[in-house]
Amino acid sequence: MSKAKTVHACTECGYISTKWQGKCPGCDSWNTLVESISETGPATKNTAGWTGQSKGAALIGSISTVDYPRFSSGLDEFDRVLGGGFVRGSVTLLGGEPGIGKSTLLLQAAREISKAEKVLYITGEESTNQVAMRGARLGATNSPIHLASEISIEKIQALIDKEQATWVVLDSIQTTFSEALQSAPGSVAQVRECGAILTRLAKTKDVTIVLVGHVTKEGTLAGPRVLEHMVDTVLYFEAESSSAFRMLRGFKNRYGPVNELGVFNMTGDGLEPVLNPSSLFITAHEKPVQGSCLLAAYEGNRPFLIEAQALVEDTASPNPRRFGSGVDVSRLQMLLAVLNKFAGVAAFDKNVYVKIVGGIKLTEPAADLGVLLAVYSSLRGVPLPLGFAACGEVGLTGEIRAVAQIEDRLREAQRLGCTTVLVPNANYEKAKRVKDLKVVSISRLDQAFSIIRELKDAA
Ligand code: TYD
Ligand code: MG
Repeated sequence: MSKAKTVHACTECGYISTKWQGKCPGCDSWNTLVESISETGPATKNTAGWTGQSKGAALIGSISTVDYPRFSSGLDEFDRVLGGGFVRGSVTLLGGEPGIGKSTLLLQAAREISKAEKVLYITGEESTNQVAMRGARLGATNSPIHLASEISIEKIQALIDKEQATWVVLDSIQTTFSEALQSAPGSVAQVRECGAILTRLAKTKDVTIVLVGHVTKEGTLAGPRVLEHMVDTVLYFEAESSSAFRMLRGFKNRYGPVNELGVFNMTGDGLEPVLNPSSLFITAHEKPVQGSCLLAAYEGNRPFLIEAQALVEDTASPNPRRFGSGVDVSRLQMLLAVLNKFAGVAAFDKNVYVKIVGGIKLTEPAADLGVLLAVYSSLRGVPLPLGFAACGEVGLTGEIRAVAQIEDRLREAQRLGCTTVLVPNANYEKAKRVKDLKVVSISRLDQAFSIIRELKDAA
């Protein structure tokens, strides 16, 4: 095919330059010029999401509001994160670190989906042999899944047409390139152009497409943010290092709730859904131990009971260590400052290690109180009573702030054997509605520690 004319456009101000320059002459930003197809070239401008059928304007009430047709991925946990299955004609981006199980998840889904859809699995990362071998391990050998090894977007488009595919996996978007651009596959220009072509194809031909995307060391998708804007759904597959548990998280979803969480276990036969995730995130201690606190957490759209563990030890180093696994270290540092200032518990001469059991990453501030209680418990050598859980956000002035979904959290805690919970004062009325559970509430951090002592004396 003849090469389209390419130019370099600034991603900040739109300045067009015929050659690449480090600094944009239009807005003086650095490194913002990326290769793109000239506007006067073939009509391959970024029109993602646009179906090309302008029908003029219509009154909002006259527009059909029937729900989107969906189909199941065959995996309940996957469906949940998608908001009830794949929407026909939608584009989903699945991001995650190498080796996390993206290809495994999609091949397993392909096995189920191929019972009703025409499935095309395009691999640019591995050979079709490798995918077929994985397929054999996942019991997909006899499924009508069409495999192709291809990295040219123009050929991929032709292949989708030829196979009349209705569900397509592209593994991965970073290995795909357009012949119209000179930049290397994986570059901003290529990822953006290929993303736009596929989104347009999905909308016009009603093909459901899943793009696999790599993440960088910083944990964001490699390539332009614009890819996240273009697609309908962005999912991340994540895990804490060395854990077999995998968390599938909804990050953006035009057709469903975000922050949904699906939990899988990586086994020798692929990914298995975890039906009772809370049981993974707690240790069955026989007697009270120092440095452990249960958190009545809410991740995704469901409650979890999670254990935070802390180890606090003296150090002579002028720079004591702060280590967090599953918790954000800068948040931990902030919490330690509040603990010092408002509860008089200082840790400036101590190493503090905090870990969330089971490899889940906590994103909500409601975990603050439980994390600090685990730290306090280790620092002072006081075990918290068995069957005790806490939830509450800790503010910078030492106040304990309300959390959402208190009843769901407490019911989950109770279901897993908790008998006493510590909650923010503002949540007390609702928390009391949970029967047969001892609810204690506080409004300031320093009150937590006297409550712990009382509970211990009573036990
Ligand atoms: P993979 O799906 O290739 O990851 P990604 O596409 O995200 O890079 O999965 C890679 C890991 O999963 C690999 O280390 C092997 C492991 N695995 C299993 O443990 N069990 C299985 O059944 C399969 C297929 C893979
Ligand atoms: Mg892969």
